[in-house]
Amino acid sequence: MTTPRPRRLRTTPAMRRLVAETRLHPADLVLPLFVREGITEPVPISSMPGQVQHTEATLAEAVRAACAAGLGGVMLFGVPARRDATGTAGDDPEGVLNRGVRIARQVSDESVAAGGAGVVVMADTCLDEFTDHGHCGVLDDRGRVDNDATLTRYAALAVAQAMAGADVVAPSGMMDGQVAVIREALDAAGFADVTILAYSAKYASAYYGPFREAVDSALQGDRRTYQMDASNYREGMREADLDLDEGADMVMVKPAGSYLDVLAGVAERSDVPVAAYQVSGEYAMIEAAAANGWIDRRAAVLESVLGIRRAGADVVLTYWALEIAGWLDEKGTK
Ligand code: PBG
Repeated sequence: MTTPRPRRLRTTPAMRRLVAETRLHPADLVLPLFVREGITEPVPISSMPGQVQHTEATLAEAVRAACAAGLGGVMLFGVPARRDATGTAGDDPEGVLNRGVRIARQVSDESVAAGGAGVVVMADTCLDEFTDHGHCGVLDDRGRVDNDATLTRYAALAVAQAMAGADVVAPSGMMDGQVAVIREALDAAGFADVTILAYSAKYASAYYGPFREAVDSALQGDRRTYQMDASNYREGMREADLDLDEGADMVMVKPAGSYLDVLAGVAERSDVPVAAYQVSGEYAMIEAAAANGWIDRRAAVLESVLGIRRAGADVVLTYWALEIAGWLDEKGTK
C-alpha cells in the first residue's frame, strides 16, 4: 500500500478552499447592538474596543450597514435612563429598546423596499437591563429571583417587542417555562409569526464581564441561581430539550468558545436551527491580545468563529459580524 498522503489536499490555497468543510458567510452572522437612552453621541465601551452604545441615529446607521453587508440579523439591547424594581421600561412602547426595535424594523424594511434582503430584527427579552437591582427577573420579598412572577413580565416584554416590529424575541433570562409563556402570549396577541430564539443553555460566565459595562449593569452578586453551572453538559441538553418541547423556533448556546461540546450536543439533538453567542469576554480577550501584538487579530477572529460554526452553530452572534462580512467580501468566502 502506498503511504496515505492527506497533505495533498493542503497543497494550494485553491485546493484548501475547495475541500473546506465549513465556511463563514455573512448571512449566518448576527450583530449585537446596544442603544442607550438620553445620549447625543455614541459612547465607546472601553472593555469592548470598537463597540459603542448607540444613539438612535447611529443605531439606524449600524442597521443600515448590517443590511448592506448582508448580515443575517441584528440583536438589540437597550440601556434605559431609568430603572425600577420590575423593569417597566422594558415593555413601555416608548422604552429605549422598543424604540430601537422600531428603528431597526424601519431600516430593514427600507432595505427590502430597495431590493435588498433586509436583516432579521431580534430583541433581547430580559429584565436585567431594566431593573434597578440588575437581575434578570423580579425579586420576591426575600430578595430571590421569583421565577413565575418573572414569566408574566417576559410575556409583556415579548408582546411589546413584537408590537415594535421584532421578527425574533430572544428570552435570555433562564427562567423555567419562559418559552411556553412567551409563545402563548405572542399567539394570544396575534403574533403567531414572531419567532422565539431561546437562550437554552446559558451558563453563568465570567465572559459576560464586558457586557455588564455595555449595559451599565446595576447587578450586585451573581446569576448562579438561574444561569447554568459551567460543570454541566447533561443539564445543557435537558434545558435545550425543554425549550424545544415548549416551542422554541431556534435554540442557543452561550457563551460559545468554552462550550463547544455543549454546542455540538445541542446541534446533534436539535431539529431547529442552532445559534451560539460569542460573548463580550470572548471578544475582549482577542482584542486585548491583538492590541498587545500577541496575536494575529484577523486570523484569530476568523478561527474563533469558524470553530463555533464547525462545532455545530448554524448562526453565530458575534460583535465582529460586520467586520468579518467585510473581510469575506474582500477575499471570497473562507
Ligand atoms: C442578559 C444577557 C447577558 C448577555 C446577553 N444577554 C448578560 C448576562 O447574562 O449577565 C451577555 C452578552 C455578552 O456578554 O456579550 N440579558
